[in-house]
Amino acid sequence: MPSTRSAEQLTKYEKIESFVKGFKLSGSAYKRVMALLHQEMINGLKHHSQGGADIKMFPTFVRSLPDGSECGEFLALDLGGTNFRVLLVRLQGHDVEIQSKTYLIPQRIMLGTGIQLFDHIADCIGKFVVEHDLQNHQLPLGFTFSFPCQQEGLAKARLSKWTKGFRCEGVVGKDICQLLQEALQRRTNCHVEIVAVVNDAVGTLMSAAHGDRNCEIGLILGTGCNACYMEGLDNVGTWKHGEDQDHHPRQVIINTEWGAFGDNGCLDFMRTEYDHELDTFSINPAKQIMEKMISGMYMGEIVRLVLVRLSHENLLFTSADRDCNLFERGRFYTKYVSEIESDTDEFFRNTKQVLDELQVENYTTEDCKVVKYVCTLVSARAAFLAAAGLATLINRLNKQDMTIAVDGSLYRFHPRFHNLMCLKIKELVKPGLKFKLSLSHDGSGKGAALTAAVSLRLRNLKMTTSGEENGKNLATQTISVKA
Ligand code: BGC
Repeated sequence: MPSTRSAEQLTKYEKIESFVKGFKLSGSAYKRVMALLHQEMINGLKHHSQGGADIKMFPTFVRSLPDGSECGEFLALDLGGTNFRVLLVRLQGHDVEIQSKTYLIPQRIMLGTGIQLFDHIADCIGKFVVEHDLQNHQLPLGFTFSFPCQQEGLAKARLSKWTKGFRCEGVVGKDICQLLQEALQRRTNCHVEIVAVVNDAVGTLMSAAHGDRNCEIGLILGTGCNACYMEGLDNVGTWKHGEDQDHHPRQVIINTEWGAFGDNGCLDFMRTEYDHELDTFSINPAKQIMEKMISGMYMGEIVRLVLVRLSHENLLFTSADRDCNLFERGRFYTKYVSEIESDTDEFFRNTKQVLDELQVENYTTEDCKVVKYVCTLVSARAAFLAAAGLATLINRLNKQDMTIAVDGSLYRFHPRFHNLMCLKIKELVKPGLKFKLSLSHDGSGKGAALTAAVSLRLRNLKMTTSGEENGKNLATQTISVKA
């Protein structure tokens, strides 16, 4: 009898394996991803091929990293996930003091009109300014806006498309700084000057580079996924803004927007049926393919789709009620994946708590094991794919020691993401290149303020060296780069 039972068990596991094997990819598959990604990056950097490239490689106009001498009081905004934050950042060399408040963005606003969105943001800023008694301060503002934008200046950025959970009408193609400025005029009497708009990946890099000279790559693993890095200006065929040779090195931070990698079908060789299903039911089908295989907005849902499939095949939760929350789209959050993978013993405390929350009934310890196994496969693929992206950048930059600044809820809270990524990057980078992944604290807030501060520092330098008057209204001047 015991031997018959174990043969049955084996069959069940073999069956389960056949439904999840698509997540287990060979080293050569990740090398193929790297080659394709690098080619797409090169296409994105060239003027004649950027239009057709999925990865837009947007030059950001951020051309200098902080040198530690930045100081002053700044407002910073952080828009891009489910929440919106307003921050008051005080910089004094390496001392940074931050006060912040988080405001919820209701779904009706995320899917409403641009006017509603920017009015809501302006209202939040108005409240924050009153609460902090800043009404009479003329504050420079750094805006972290975490969506793909074509920058036309440090404080001029046209939205190229919405991603993640946002789809506000009438914003694509518009300058988001102007929309914010108009909303501020409509709704408040705050005196702010938007000095810089940055992507969260760029903010993260700026924030970490403040204390680490080897840091030239920024990575976000949160609701969305993206990376940026410092590129030599000679390689940026899309840079048509002249130079300010006096004060900037010949370099610029590139916001890769690599979440869109695979939109042309080049990743189809590694996408599973679950990836296709997730995409079909998303608000942006056929867009952000790489992001959908990695980031926090989607990972939980991929796991859920696998669990549902296994359950329909009678390989899991055989006596669960098919009306429970597990069977509802979007109900399996990525934080559950982190919680489940944090279970280290056979008691499966976190896993059971998640299954209880999802109202799954009559599950067994065997079921818990399978659930955890599925989570580990989906998150390992996500971590390895992000690692392949980073290894591509590390190899391209080809520096002996490279620090990568990382931020985002997925990276922060997942118990194994960091280690999985390090393991895979080691396997994929050129021999001899050393790297370090370092958690960047409050990249979005501090990073936006630092970018604003660097820009003001350079602007003042330019004014001093060109003999311009110091008191001139900052808002009317060209910022660092000649248009
Ligand atoms: C956006 C990026 C952003 C990333 C992380 C993506 O969906 O396109 O601009 O950096 O999410 O927030």
